[in-house]
Amino acid sequence: MQKLGDIILFFKNELAGISNSREIFNWAYITINNLFGYDRANFIINQNQKISLHQRKKIKRIVSQLKKNKPIQYILEECVFFDLKFKVNSSVLIPRPETEELVKWILKDEFKSMIDIGTGSGCIAISIAKNKNVNVHAIDISNTSIKLAKKNAEFHGVSINFLNIDILTENISNKVDIVVSNPPYVLKKEKKHMNKNVIDYEPEIAIFVDDNNPFIFYKIIAKKAKKILNRNGKIYFEINENYSEEVMKILKDYGYVNIKLKKDINDRDRMIKATLK
Ligand SMILES: C[S@@+](CC[C@H](N)C(=O)[O-])C[C@H]1O[C@@H](n2cnc3c(N)ncnc32)[C@H](O)[C@@H]1O
Repeated sequence: MQKLGDIILFFKNELAGISNSREIFNWAYITINNLFGYDRANFIINQNQKISLHQRKKIKRIVSQLKKNKPIQYILEECVFFDLKFKVNSSVLIPRPETEELVKWILKDEFKSMIDIGTGSGCIAISIAKNKNVNVHAIDISNTSIKLAKKNAEFHGVSINFLNIDILTENISNKVDIVVSNPPYVLKKEKKHMNKNVIDYEPEIAIFVDDNNPFIFYKIIAKKAKKILNRNGKIYFEINENYSEEVMKILKDYGYVNIKLKKDINDRDRMIKATLK
């Protein structure tokens, strides 16, 4: 591995069998972008650029962690969400593409204030604050998440009111037009079917709910949101595609109207919005 162009082949040879070639190429390009700042087009132009010994060592370290199924975003401590760079570490969930679609949906709405429940890296709250002149609050049970989300907000120059709160046991009092949450919603019993890179590295508290109380977050947030939403306020949820009926029923039972289900680009029911009468 002497030149930039050799990195792709190095990834391909070292990581064959760890993932499919599409993902391996993707890891290589993400690494190149992180270390050299080149997008794919600039990489092609600069393919003959020499790699220093220090850079070569870094690339080898990255590849050896990928071999252990560590997500590239945790290795580089960075990810891209809604075209914005976010710092991530093992205390927060890696933001997912379907959540970008939720943000896009919310941004079509007219509102002046919002609260993001279970903010993690702050990806939803920060992307909204960056694209709309609104008042944003964000809460999370994890203090380390809040610390990281604050850094991300600072980096993007947006002002967000972050609070370290357990939504299941504590109350919130900030009046808002929109409540949004991508809460933990995967059943613990589903763990055995999940990829190692998720179960070994992503925080349990961000992902799993008890098998005997799978909708706890939706129920409690729907209930608590009624106290803080302004008139005609809206609630937005990311959901497990298999449980759209159940979450719609919870919202209906709490008196929400205009309940709308939305599919993601893969044609799966992944988002819900509803209005408070
Ligand atoms: C699925 S992650 C979503 C993170 C981020 N909003 C995103 O979309 O990438 C759920 C988040 O809820 C937080 N969380 C879990 N239990 C909570 C609770 N009882 N109160 C508040 N936040 C909680 C987790 O720490 C985690 O950051």
